[in-house]
Amino acid sequence: MANPSVTKIKAPILAEIEAFEPKFRASMKSSVPLLDKITHYIIKRKGKQLRPIFVFLSAKICGEVTEATYRAATLIELLHTATLVHDDVVDDSYQRRGFFSLNALWKNKIAVLVGDFLLSKGLLFSIDNNDFDLLKIVSDAVRQMSEGELLQIEKARKLDIEESVYFEIIRQKTASLIASCLACGACSVGADEATIEKMRSLGETIGLAFQIRDDLFDYELDGATGKPSGIDIKEKKLTLPIIHVLSKSTPKDKRWLINTIKNDHHKESKVREIMDYVVTQGGIEYANASMQEYKQKALVILDDFPDSESKESLRELITYTIERKK
Ligand code: IPE
Ligand code: IPE
Ligand code: MG
Ligand code: MG
Repeated sequence: MANPSVTKIKAPILAEIEAFEPKFRASMKSSVPLLDKITHYIIKRKGKQLRPIFVFLSAKICGEVTEATYRAATLIELLHTATLVHDDVVDDSYQRRGFFSLNALWKNKIAVLVGDFLLSKGLLFSIDNNDFDLLKIVSDAVRQMSEGELLQIEKARKLDIEESVYFEIIRQKTASLIASCLACGACSVGADEATIEKMRSLGETIGLAFQIRDDLFDYELDGATGKPSGIDIKEKKLTLPIIHVLSKSTPKDKRWLINTIKNDHHKESKVREIMDYVVTQGGIEYANASMQEYKQKALVILDDFPDSESKESLRELITYTIERKK
């Protein structure tokens, strides 16, 4: 990853990230040849690994990194990977991290089972190490993620969604896991309850901004994300830019938008037409402003922690979350 800001962010935790890599690889091992082949495929196309970075930075802000910190990072990245594998099945998406998704290559059946395998590997790994405090934090996030994805599907079917529901969905499906990264980091170094809770709330705030950024990617053509764009509307997934535009459109435009999404969401040209409308009506600016608000809120929470090199990095990482190009 040649991105200069990410290199800088990682500086205080370089040794930890390096030591993390083989541990993460080992955590996916299986004696089933097909599984081994698929996990190999996953590892070769690793993502940004922002969640382990969140875990390590939080741990270092609160104390000294321990073996439990590595296990938290491994557990969370495993669960994250599992949810992406499942998410691409749910979203019918054929591209992930610049390559074919598992469902594109091996079909849904196998992708669902591989996701389950990764999830169970993560849980077993923690149980084997008696990491019950970490497991409690993370399992709660996993429950919320499933609930968030289901709430999203329910809303996509009915096409009625208010801003408050959108925030509830993204809090559950994305912010909960990033919240658990920061909470687990603090917990793994023996921080007290109040500190763990403050870290959790910081992670949740960052997580909301993170998903708004992701939802904005969907409006960008040929971005660097390695994921397809324009698929949210295709899946009738209403995100902040369009929710805002819908809320201020005339009844006539609103009817046109809803009917087009309902009836023509599979037509490329119609989806682009809607996206253009959202752009011209200020949907992107609105979502950007909302993301900035969460960034500011996160910076205020972070301010409460004692100054350190890791705190500076986390500050940079918050900015990176909303300015990133992938
Ligand atoms: C993608 O997360 C899923 C969302 C919550 C939007 P990332 O953007 O962190 O994915 P990778 O791991 O870097 O591919
Ligand atoms: C985030 O939503 C999904 C998860 C929390 C797994 P998206 O469906 O927008 O994520 P991407 O864009 O496919 O990564
Ligand atoms: Mg998706
Ligand atoms: Mg997305």
